Amino acid sequence: MKKIVIQGLGYVGLAMMTFCAGAKKNNKYLFNVVGVEKNSNKGLKIVNRIKTNEAAKIVDDRNFFKFFKKLNKDNRINASINKNEYSDADVIIVCSNCDFDFTNNSVKLEEYIKNINEISLHLKENCLVIIQSTLPPGTTSNILQPLIQKNLKKRGIKNFYLCHSFERITPGKDYYKSMKNVERIIGGKNKQSLKITKKIFKDIFSLTSNKIIEFNTTSESETCKIIENSYRATNIAFIEEWRKFCFANNLDLEKILDCIRMRKTHSNIMRSGIGVGGYCLTKDPLFGQASSKQIFKKKFNFPLSTKAVEVNQLMTSDILKEIKQKFNKNILGKKVILIGVSYREDTNDTRFTPAEGVYDFFKKMGCKLEFYDPIVDFWEYSRSNSFMKKGLENFDVYVYLIKHQFFKRLNIKYKKKSLILDLNHVINKKERIKINNNRNLNSYFIGSKQI
Ligand SMILES: NC(=O)c1ccc[n+]([C@@H]2O[C@H](COP(=O)([O-])OP(=O)(O)OC[C@H]3O[C@@H](n4cnc5c(N)ncnc54)[C@H](O)[C@@H]3O)[C@@H](O)[C@H]2O)c1
Repeated sequence: MKKIVIQGLGYVGLAMMTFCAGAKKNNKYLFNVVGVEKNSNKGLKIVNRIKTNEAAKIVDDRNFFKFFKKLNKDNRINASINKNEYSDADVIIVCSNCDFDFTNNSVKLEEYIKNINEISLHLKENCLVIIQSTLPPGTTSNILQPLIQKNLKKRGIKNFYLCHSFERITPGKDYYKSMKNVERIIGGKNKQSLKITKKIFKDIFSLTSNKIIEFNTTSESETCKIIENSYRATNIAFIEEWRKFCFANNLDLEKILDCIRMRKTHSNIMRSGIGVGGYCLTKDPLFGQASSKQIFKKKFNFPLSTKAVEVNQLMTSDILKEIKQKFNKNILGKKVILIGVSYREDTNDTRFTPAEGVYDFFKKMGCKLEFYDPIVDFWEYSRSNSFMKKGLENFDVYVYLIKHQFFKRLNIKYKKKSLILDLNHVINKKERIKINNNRNLNSYFIGSKQI
């Protein structure tokens, strides 16, 4: 049985490890799988959680939980911090993070290079390395490949295979679905690398050949991911521009957007929202410029992508300024609850969540703050646990930020004079009408006309 080792067991690596462990042909498992984490507090915590079914709770996805639990019961899920696991691997899939340094406006390549260095000090002859991390275009071919080559030469190893294949997984209720049966884009160091990666992906995900798209350079796969995420971040920033205009002139932006969506070519136009969070959209649009500066060393500007990140970074505070102008008296010193603090629905991921800016805003207004989010449970930013559902009636201000599945039946009975701020389209239309018609309540629904 071939051995697959996954480096990094975060949101991408955990799912990748689970899919590899669950791959079957003729009802027999295909691979021995081990996940390797960093020897750090976070890494050790992840490894310990994997031994129970706790790890699967990073998302509220029944399909993933069921899949993970069954594989765990069959002893298919193995995690470790031991780098020697790389030594006898036939395939190594890299899912570790490559971060952006927002202060120095550059990608933290040195840290990422260390991850690949660790692998290359162990990997055996003819091993296949598949890099799934999002990287500045050119990183794999210009930096990682020569590094691996150099280290292998010292160890007398002649051959290895190398591909980049970015990931599209979406943490949330469709975590499992977003990985199963989706296209895989691969860029290879050579034809042989592409051929064996294609075979491995077909086996892991039971994919047909037409679902695997090949590029004969790794830089094209890297670029594909960066364009994809820059496109999304730019579209979000574009709507924010119009949100401000519509708010200032009391125009119903969301109704306007619904009209635009009726045109087939515009059906996926974005909605307004409280901000862009998460690990990817906040940094990926800056990877084009970083690639030009740090890898290809050719001056090249990305004015739209850069501006999009700037607009998106300011979005939360811009919206809160408007709210302050409108509801100052209703907020000062009040009891406030934030509902949903992760950066997107149905996950516990709070990296760069707009909830942080919202939290700071209400703190500055002298409010007594709690949050309610059963998936996040403990929020490091506020250093506190989620409030209990039982006492939700006792607040003055309700700030809705994320629409978790959990929130479908909250049915909160608001006190007289409460202020309801729906900053991310969490409250359904029926409930919204009820709130709007209740003269005892004050409310604000992002993107909608103020009544
Ligand atoms: N989160 C997403 O939705 C998503 C989607 C598509 C692509 N990506 C990309 O995939 C990559 C991983 O993202 P993520 O969200 O899973 O990140 P993450 O931070 O959740 O996970 C990365 C893990 O790698 C571990 N790690 C770092 N260095 C290591 C080392 N030397 N050895 C072993 N483990 C190590 C970290 O401890 C961490 O747990 C990133 O490049 C990201 O941009 C993420």
